[in-house]
Amino acid sequence: MTTQNDRYVIRPGRAHDAIDLARLHASVQLQAVTGGQPHPGIAAWVEDLLDGHPSVVPDDFLVAEDTATGCPVASLVGLRQQWSLAGVQLPVAQVELVGTAPEHRGNRLTERLFAALHKRYAADGVPVQVIEGIPYFYRRLGYEYALANDGAPTVPAAALLAIEHDRPDRSAGLTVRPATVADADALAGIDRRLAEGNALVCPREAAVWRYEIGGRRSADLARRVVAVLVHGVDVRGYLVHGSRLSAAGELIVVAAAYDRPTDWPAAAAAMHTHLTHVGRQYEATADKSFTAVRPILGPDHPLVRRSPAGVPRRPRGWYVRTGDPANLLARLQPLLRARWQTADLRWHEPTMTIDMYGRAARLEFTDGELTDVTGMRGAVSPSTDPETHAAIPPGALLQLALGHRTLPEVLETWPDCLLRDRRTEDFLTTAFPQVPVQVWPRN
Ligand SMILES: CC(C)(COP(=O)(O)OP(=O)(O)OC[C@H]1O[C@@H](n2cnc3c(N)ncnc32)[C@H](O)[C@@H]1OP(=O)(O)O)[C@@H](O)C(=O)NCCC(=O)NCCS
Repeated sequence: MTTQNDRYVIRPGRAHDAIDLARLHASVQLQAVTGGQPHPGIAAWVEDLLDGHPSVVPDDFLVAEDTATGCPVASLVGLRQQWSLAGVQLPVAQVELVGTAPEHRGNRLTERLFAALHKRYAADGVPVQVIEGIPYFYRRLGYEYALANDGAPTVPAAALLAIEHDRPDRSAGLTVRPATVADADALAGIDRRLAEGNALVCPREAAVWRYEIGGRRSADLARRVVAVLVHGVDVRGYLVHGSRLSAAGELIVVAAAYDRPTDWPAAAAAMHTHLTHVGRQYEATADKSFTAVRPILGPDHPLVRRSPAGVPRRPRGWYVRTGDPANLLARLQPLLRARWQTADLRWHEPTMTIDMYGRAARLEFTDGELTDVTGMRGAVSPSTDPETHAAIPPGALLQLALGHRTLPEVLETWPDCLLRDRRTEDFLTTAFPQVPVQVWPRN
């Protein structure tokens, strides 16, 4: 793909890289956990990703190959997926498994792999890339902390046991059982309805649910356990948790959904009972105590709001990048139009120009309603350009577009976020409300 110097070539992955890449990543990822030994869960995950995973093909890997040996010495993978932002589809690539063999580090291989990845997504029209990982490191590659899907308190096992004891059976006929592949269509239906709501979600189709339930190698680090909430034979919700206790004895919860918002108290009670039961089961087969449930969910998640009090946690934050903020705005056009319509706001000029210091978006209006968004080159000096209504740094635009920060928050922290007048400020405040996040990404 690229040959920037003689030693390495950057190329797409191939199915027959599986053994080499499994070995490479098992020996570089999570080494603090294994004490420098190969990580079997990472190896199994890489093998799964290169062997019929529903969200990846081998080509989604990028590999730096040492031309002297023909061996992969660094790689990463991008998993393409469709998220839904308040009902609007958003193509996202989740970047995982960034790693370089120790003897090849410091050769800018990671930088080159990301450059190739970003070029690929620019060509394919994938507007958003996300990654979790080393603090600050990915800022250097153009990423911004613009998303958080955790921050819920950790709930001590003792607090869960106490509510079981004090208030038995509050679950109103709801039971929780392990999911089977026969539940996949019902689970996909729940996700479809969730995606029509106002949150940022990562819905799974039936094939992806089947994979999560029964498709992964048992050692796969990304394997989770899916349980369903049923009323009679009716599947009404799901709960997705870890397949073992963490080193600290915690049971993680990565997703929880329920179809009937008004019945959440009963659903949460059934989920808590189930988690307590699972935690004790895991404890019985592991040589460690079940200490707590740790939801990788936001503090406003309906399950979290109905949890016993826990130990507060600071959200870790995800890195997000967009190569073309104007294109991102164009994708959100239906959402912007709907938000302005709901607020009864009509723009008084034929166009609004939002400049992102390099690229700009030109929003067109007919009778006050948004009809088109196109990207164009930004002004040389947007802060003084008379045609520009708002100048928003690309990182701040990401925060706004994903509903991570509101306009008042951005204005407080970004002196180079500039608005022409009060009317523009009102419009953009309405355009970008805070959005709840309920994302369990595909990995
Ligand atoms: C992080 C890692 C992928 C970097 O690989 P690399 O190919 O050497 O990276 P590059 O040569 O492109 O960049 C090197 C720069 O990154 C910095 N860097 C490397 N590892 C870093 C770390 N863990 N934290 C912060 N900075 C790091 C280097 O100091 C160097 O900085 P410099 O440009 O100021 O000299 C590699 O160290 C690795 O495989 N680590 C173990 C696995 C891991 O942690 N992966 C990331 C999971 S999110």
